[in-house]
Amino acid sequence: MIEAHGKEAVVRQRYAASAKERADKLCCPVDYQSKYLEAIPLEVIKRDYGCGDPSLYLREGETVLDLGSGTGKICFIAAQIVGARGKVIGVDMTDEMLEVARRNAPIVAEHIGYSNVQFRKGRIQDLALDLELLDRELQTNPITNAASFLAADELAEELRCKHPLVATDSIDVVVSNCVLNLVESKAKRQLFEEIFRVLRKGGRAVICDIVSDEEVPEEMQDDPELWSGCISGALTEEGVVRAFEDAGFYGIRILKRDVDPWRTVQGIEFRSVTVEAFKGKQGECFERNQAVIYRGPFKEVLDDDNHRMERGRRYAVCDKTYNLYRKAPYQEFFEFVDPIVAVPLSEARPFDCSRTSLRHPKESKGQHYNATIEANSKCCDGGSCG
Ligand SMILES: C[S@@+](CC[C@H](N)C(=O)[O-])C[C@H]1O[C@@H](n2cnc3c(N)ncnc32)[C@H](O)[C@@H]1O
Repeated sequence: MIEAHGKEAVVRQRYAASAKERADKLCCPVDYQSKYLEAIPLEVIKRDYGCGDPSLYLREGETVLDLGSGTGKICFIAAQIVGARGKVIGVDMTDEMLEVARRNAPIVAEHIGYSNVQFRKGRIQDLALDLELLDRELQTNPITNAASFLAADELAEELRCKHPLVATDSIDVVVSNCVLNLVESKAKRQLFEEIFRVLRKGGRAVICDIVSDEEVPEEMQDDPELWSGCISGALTEEGVVRAFEDAGFYGIRILKRDVDPWRTVQGIEFRSVTVEAFKGKQGECFERNQAVIYRGPFKEVLDDDNHRMERGRRYAVCDKTYNLYRKAPYQEFFEFVDPIVAVPLSEARPFDCSRTSLRHPKESKGQHYNATIEANSKCCDGGSCG
């Protein structure tokens, strides 16, 4: 059986070698947008060990964090999409990968005309710990006995607090391309919590990874070749969605799922998926007399806060839910009803979000609303109401 740290050592060893020389077996072919590849040196493009393209979902001006950035391909593509106003941070734990990425960063910057990419050394399940800072400290105070081991542990904790590798609430979009599966099973929960921590409220994760259609048996997980080859550390397709839910994300959806498996091992299919998840449903609930109507097409829906809504009915929602629904990924599914008399946030009462209640139209209009108004000329202009 490979131990947890053993798995990480095997992964590091395999990717150190793959940074130096291209390894074909690690690659699940992806068509990246060719216009962005022109600015990237061949050395980087050749060492493509991805399984999808999270850069397709990025926008100008965003701050992006790429988990397991390898030789930097996704970071260099992202750099061009987010532009000079945006920023890209790649994190990887393998020195040889970081060396190739850092050496090529100034070349890409020269080609695109600006520099907005940084590469940092860390483990993606512990995004607060800067491994280069820790390395430096340990050179001065090496671990030689139990006491210095405990002191190093304390030092690591201090570094996490005082000089975090990636600060809390600092990132617009966390992306990753074929890396989450490589993190040992016991640390996967912490990995999703770390993604949640570093995202700002309203930020999102766009993760491309290999998933399995069935649980992977332990013997397969213990096979170093299958583990480090992005196979047997895969979460199930159900498990990856649950992991996001458990970490507090909302609006989780599968953006892409390859129909054909990349590989099938002992009858278990392993394929690439791209999953998106949002941070920001946490916070207080206030009553501002707003309502929403689920447009369909399903007869009813259930959101990540357990609001269950039937198609076509008018529901009372708190100000927070109302504003979440007005943005991606929800807005196209709802009609929004503002009250005729707005309730200022400063005067709003707490709203009980633990149950879903219907909202009578009188609550939107006011209990004594009794107006009679001529036909709206905007609606029936030119005789057409359609
Ligand atoms: C399959 S490669 C993918 C590289 C890159 N994303 C790409 O698209 O080519 C996996 C990368 O993740 C890094 N990696 C694996 N586990 C990691 C961890 N726990 N923390 C940080 N980096 C990790 C490896 O060093 C390697 O560069």
